[in-house]
Amino acid sequence: MTTTGKGPAPAGSGSTAPDDRSIDGASEAAEGADVRAGDHGGSGPPPGERTDGDTAVPSPVGPTVLDPASSGGKPEERLATGPVMLGPIRRRVSLELDGREVRVTEGSTILDALHEQGTPEQADTPTLCWAPNMDPINACRVCVVEVEGSRALVPSCARACEDGMQVRTDTEKVRHSRRMVLELLASSVDMDRASVDVQRWMGDYGVDAGRYGPPAPPAAAGERDRRHAGHHHAPDGATAATVAQPVKIDNDLYVRDYSRCIMCYKCVNACGTDAQFTFAIAAAGRGFDARIATEFDAPLPDSACVYCGNCIGVCPTGALVSRREHELREEDDWHPEEETVTTTICSFCGVGCNLELHVQQNEIVNVTSPSDHSVTHGHLCIKGRFGFQHVQNF
Ligand code: SF4
Ligand code: SF4
Ligand code: FES
Repeated sequence: MTTTGKGPAPAGSGSTAPDDRSIDGASEAAEGADVRAGDHGGSGPPPGERTDGDTAVPSPVGPTVLDPASSGGKPEERLATGPVMLGPIRRRVSLELDGREVRVTEGSTILDALHEQGTPEQADTPTLCWAPNMDPINACRVCVVEVEGSRALVPSCARACEDGMQVRTDTEKVRHSRRMVLELLASSVDMDRASVDVQRWMGDYGVDAGRYGPPAPPAAAGERDRRHAGHHHAPDGATAATVAQPVKIDNDLYVRDYSRCIMCYKCVNACGTDAQFTFAIAAAGRGFDARIATEFDAPLPDSACVYCGNCIGVCPTGALVSRREHELREEDDWHPEEETVTTTICSFCGVGCNLELHVQQNEIVNVTSPSDHSVTHGHLCIKGRFGFQHVQNF
């Protein structure tokens, strides 16, 4: 997995993460200090404490200055000037993935371990609400695994690895649970435009959404938005409840097709604390009526939305797409198999955001940014994501 600046560093990837408990010199001293700072005397976290990258015990070392005058080392070992910047020092923890022992950096999630140290099958753990450039949301539960001693299945994307953990990824219980998650979603949500991986997982896990009956009729425009929490109609028992409703088109830049929304919360977090800090959208309603909404269900132009499009960038099911993509799909002129992607640098300002220009039939149809780009972490502003028409007009 690529380091994105969010979440833990991948195992063995950084100069700041020792490969083993046998670390030397200043690092060893720092490790001892790290344990004391945690005040739990062992290699694992305190009970109940998350140990993903954002919550790991901060290193007490911080910027370290090795004083040339007092280091006592050979001249070439002394630092002439300036601090040595050290990141948080983390140990390695050992755990078993389907009976095979692996070692990962403390703070890694089980999904990190599966991606970095797992077999191809283990690394192919399905995910919906997880993204490499976001903090774990832990909403969809399609990534569950069994952990020895745990009563319930655990979400691999959010559970931190612990020493001695025994993880099982391909048991009947795991496969059944993943199938149910995908199947219930597919019974109520249009998953046709979910990613290729999601489509493949649905096949791999034998999803048969049709066994819940034919879908109920779609809601009228705005009907689901007007529903009040706690006021539910009894299902008719003959049809599968559905979130089908008309597409919301109220601006020139992107459309919201909530009949494809699985309530993964990625857009909410991208608009909020994961990237944009605009908080233009949130979850409204309860239970099956839960939906993503602007404040007071206002149209986007009347909401706090600044059209960064970061919600589009993370949506896993095609519920949020650019206006142009929507139009081309409606015209049956959408050709992903012909799409080329060219990486360039945004020319609007001096920040240096990488842009990926998605081109179909000699037309830029979408702009994204790599999730592992150190400047953007996959997120853009309105100019980078939508301001490309001047290029095409040449
Ligand atoms: S476009 Fe940006 S500001 Fe608007 S809802 Fe999406 S993430 Fe929030
Ligand atoms: S609109 Fe997309 S990103 Fe937002 S909750 Fe629905 S599926 Fe997830
Ligand atoms: S991907 Fe892990 S809970 Fe959604």
